[in-house]
Amino acid sequence: MRVLNLLTFVCASSAYIFKPENSSYKNYDVTVGSSSYWVTSFITGKDQKQYLAVSHILTTEMPSMVCRASVLDLESLEYWVDLQYCSRGNGTLDRSGPLNIDYGSYGFGSTSDDKVSSMYAYANTNKSFSLDLEWESSSKVLLNAGSGVIGFGHWPSNATEWGIPAGKTKGSLVLNGKNIEVDPKNSLTWYDRQISYGVPKNWTWFEVHFNGSPIKASIWAIEEADHRYEFATVRNGESLEVLAYTLEADTSNSWTSTKSNITYPLSWKLKFENGDYLKIDSVRPDQEMYGSQNLVDSAYEGFVKISGKFQGLKKGFGVVEMVTVYNS
Ligand SMILES: *[C@@H]1O[C@H](CO)[C@@H](O)[C@H](O)[C@H]1NC(C)=O
Ligand SMILES: *[C@@H]1O[C@H](CO)[C@@H](O)[C@H](O)[C@H]1NC(C)=O
Ligand SMILES: *[C@@H]1O[C@H](CO)[C@@H](O)[C@H](O)[C@H]1NC(C)=O
Ligand SMILES: *[C@@H]1O[C@H](CO)[C@@H](O)[C@H](O)[C@H]1NC(C)=O
Ligand SMILES: *[C@@H]1O[C@H](CO)[C@@H](O)[C@H](O)[C@H]1NC(C)=O
Ligand SMILES: *[C@@H]1O[C@H](CO)[C@@H](O)[C@H](O)[C@H]1NC(C)=O
Repeated sequence: MRVLNLLTFVCASSAYIFKPENSSYKNYDVTVGSSSYWVTSFITGKDQKQYLAVSHILTTEMPSMVCRASVLDLESLEYWVDLQYCSRGNGTLDRSGPLNIDYGSYGFGSTSDDKVSSMYAYANTNKSFSLDLEWESSSKVLLNAGSGVIGFGHWPSNATEWGIPAGKTKGSLVLNGKNIEVDPKNSLTWYDRQISYGVPKNWTWFEVHFNGSPIKASIWAIEEADHRYEFATVRNGESLEVLAYTLEADTSNSWTSTKSNITYPLSWKLKFENGDYLKIDSVRPDQEMYGSQNLVDSAYEGFVKISGKFQGLKKGFGVVEMVTVYNS
C-alpha cells in the first residue's frame, strides 16, 4: 500500500487524477422548466495530455439563448473559447422524450428516456476547436444545500440546483485540426443543472474534486444587493453535508477583461468553521466566455488548482464560475 500511495503521489505531481465514479444510484431529472444545461469534462486524452472542456446552453431567453464552449490544455494552458447566441427559430428544444437541444453548431441532449442516464454535448465552432462528448450519470447526484433548492435572487426567489459530479466520459475534441480521443478510464464529467426563478446580483461558485477521493463539493457565494450567502455542499459517497464557510478573494491577484470590463479575482481562501481551509487558484487569468448582448451573458469558467486542509484531504482541482448579473 505504501508503494502504491507513493506511486499515486508521483503521478499526481505531473498530472491530475481524473477518475470517473461507477455508482448504480439512479439519478433523475426534474421534469419542469428548462434553463441551464452545463457540463465540464476533465479529460485525459489518448494523446496523454489533459484538458478541461466546458459546454453550456442557457435556454433562458434574455432575450437570446446563449451557447458557449471552451477547452483548456492543462499542460500548455492554450485556451479556446466560443460563444454564440442561439435562437429558437432555427433550432430544437424538445423535452417530451429524451432531451434534445439542437442549435446546429451547438447541441445538448440525452439518449435515455429519463433525460439523464446517458447524455451528450457537442459544439462545432469556428475558433479552431470543437467538442463531441458523451457521458453517463454513473455518479450519485449532489443536491445543493441538501435539498437541491437554494435561495437565488430576492427572497423568496429560488433555484433548483444539482450536479452529477463524476460520470464516465467518452468522445473526442478537435483542437487546431487535431483529433483527440478521450480516455474513458481517466476522464470524468460533472453535469450541472439549474432552473432559476430569480437572479442575484453576482456570484462565485466552485466545483471541487480531490485527487482519489469520493468527496465532491459545490461551493456557493451569492451576492444580493444587501447580503452575501456562503455555503458549501459536500457529497461524500452516500452522504451530503452543508457547511458554512467564509470566502476571501485575494484582491492583489485579479484580471480585468477588456471585453466585459469585469475584474475577476484569480485566487481565494475558503475558511471553514472547524479550521479546515481551501486555497484555490485559477491556472490562467483570461478564462472568460464573453457575450456582447448582456452583462449576464459573460461567464468566467476557469480551471482551478486546489490545496489546503479539508476533511483530511490536501490537493484537488476544479472549476470556478463567476457571473455578474448587474452592477451596484
Ligand atoms: C460498474 O458497476 C457495475 C454494476 O453497478 C458493474 O457491473 C461493473 O463491473 C462496474 N464497472 C467497473 C469498471 O467497476
Ligand atoms: C437563426 O435565427 C436568427 C433570427 O431568428 C437569425 O438571425 C440567424 O441568422 C439564424 N441562424 C441560422 C444559422 O440560421
Ligand atoms: C461557422 O461558419 C460557418 C460558415 O460561415 C457557419 O455556417 C456556421 O454557422 C459558423 N458556426 C459558428 C459556430 O459560428
Ligand atoms: C421556488 O420559486 C418558485 C417560483 O417563485 C415557487 O413556485 C416554488 O414553490 C419555490 N420552491 C420552493 C421549494 O420554495
Ligand atoms: C460580487 O461583485 C462584487 C463587485 O465586483 C465583488 O466585490 C464581490 O466579491 C462579488 N461577490 C461574489 C460572491 O462573487
Ligand atoms: C469599458 O470601460 C471603458 C473605459 O471606461 C469604456 O470606454 C468601455 O465602453 C467599457 N466597455 C464595456 C463593454 O463596458
